[in-house]
Amino acid sequence: MSRARDVPVDGNVIEAPVDRAMMDAPVDRLGRRFADLRVSVTDRCNFRCPYCMPKEIFGPGYEFLPRSAILSFEEIVRVVSIFGRLGLRKLRLTGGEPTVRAELPTLVRMLRETLPEIDIALTTNGSRLAAMAEDLNAAGLDRVTVSLDSIDPEICREMNGVDFPHERVLEGIDAAAAAGLGPVKINAVVKRGVNDVGIVDMARHFRGTGHIVRFIEYMDVGTTNGWRLDEVVPAREIIERLAQVEGLEPVEAAYEGEVAKRWRWTDGSGEIGVITSVTEPFCGDCTRARLSAEGSLYTCLFASVGHDLRAQLRSGASDDELHDRIAGIWVAREDRYSELRAAMTDDLPVLDRVEMSHIGG
Ligand code: GTP
Ligand code: 5AD
Ligand code: SF4
Ligand code: SF4
Repeated sequence: MSRARDVPVDGNVIEAPVDRAMMDAPVDRLGRRFADLRVSVTDRCNFRCPYCMPKEIFGPGYEFLPRSAILSFEEIVRVVSIFGRLGLRKLRLTGGEPTVRAELPTLVRMLRETLPEIDIALTTNGSRLAAMAEDLNAAGLDRVTVSLDSIDPEICREMNGVDFPHERVLEGIDAAAAAGLGPVKINAVVKRGVNDVGIVDMARHFRGTGHIVRFIEYMDVGTTNGWRLDEVVPAREIIERLAQVEGLEPVEAAYEGEVAKRWRWTDGSGEIGVITSVTEPFCGDCTRARLSAEGSLYTCLFASVGHDLRAQLRSGASDDELHDRIAGIWVAREDRYSELRAAMTDDLPVLDRVEMSHIGG
């Protein structure tokens, strides 16, 4: 079976020449600085969540990237250190599922040694976290976000697509908190008619634990998940349902451009979040860039075209050349897909969007 499209389709990638001295804090065409890099360390995953890697497409015949195509740890560290010169504050390791990449703690250690000051986080499905949490913490990881769509065992099995027992993910969350990787954020993608019945139970389950559940509006990312607007549960509705459990009040964003909108229980039992990519897009202060496992740079989660850095990395380019190239990509950026989608009454033209499993969340 062929791969889902993840390669440039129109070749029309805009990059701009740069003056290096001006470019240590590049600003894009919409006035947004760069601050946040998400690095996919593998396009593989041991789950098959239907909203991300439906098994009809990502089946046994699916061609994942060969090892030689994937950036080595040294190459990743080199690219990240160049982003360090461009204003990087937060680095998130993603996948696919990052823990299926061999020796992940070694990569974390190398990144930590190179950039001692930055915040390093990991997004994982939690399946291997119980075994790895201590090593990851010792290597210098700051925190983890675990994807878990429900606390109902049956719904969970259905939503991870491989019958994975949710108790093991819960053990992973506890292990992460015990290892010092908390507060653990728990991401739940909400799909109407599938797991929205469990929103309240999920929030109740984690109240008072110190973990922060964030409910994510199901997004039309990639082209394989068969997304429909009527399967999206608007964050407003999620908050209304949760407010029946206990009073909720909004909390200030922790930093400019924070993805989640924060709320806290008025009885002091903790915090939850909602991620409103569909109903209230947040492109206006999007400071994020994404590096795919094979070294293409994407300036939007919904991009169809990546900028190949690997060829340059492997052909002897200097750090300054790479720096200028990346800064040029950022200053030419004008992505705001979610805002454009929200502004259209009809569907946006079907673009060949990159898959989420290819560039991480
Ligand atoms: P913190 O650093 O803990 O604030 O993490 P975060 O909220 O930035 O990270 P996380 O990767 O957990 O993001 C949560 C989810 O929000 C992702 O899995 C995506 O579903 C969604 N998301 C993250 N970034 C973007 C973005 O740039 N655009 C859109 N549309 N959705 C995003
Ligand atoms: N819509 C919203 N979130 C998604 N994720 C994956 N696919 C989608 C989608 N279609 C989230 C996962 C995980 C992160 C990697 O991205 O739940 O938390
Ligand atoms: Fe794997 Fe995460 Fe995608 Fe689920 S959402 S298939 S766990 S990469
Ligand atoms: Fe950023 Fe693109 Fe997401 Fe908008 S849709 S917030 S520009 S990644």
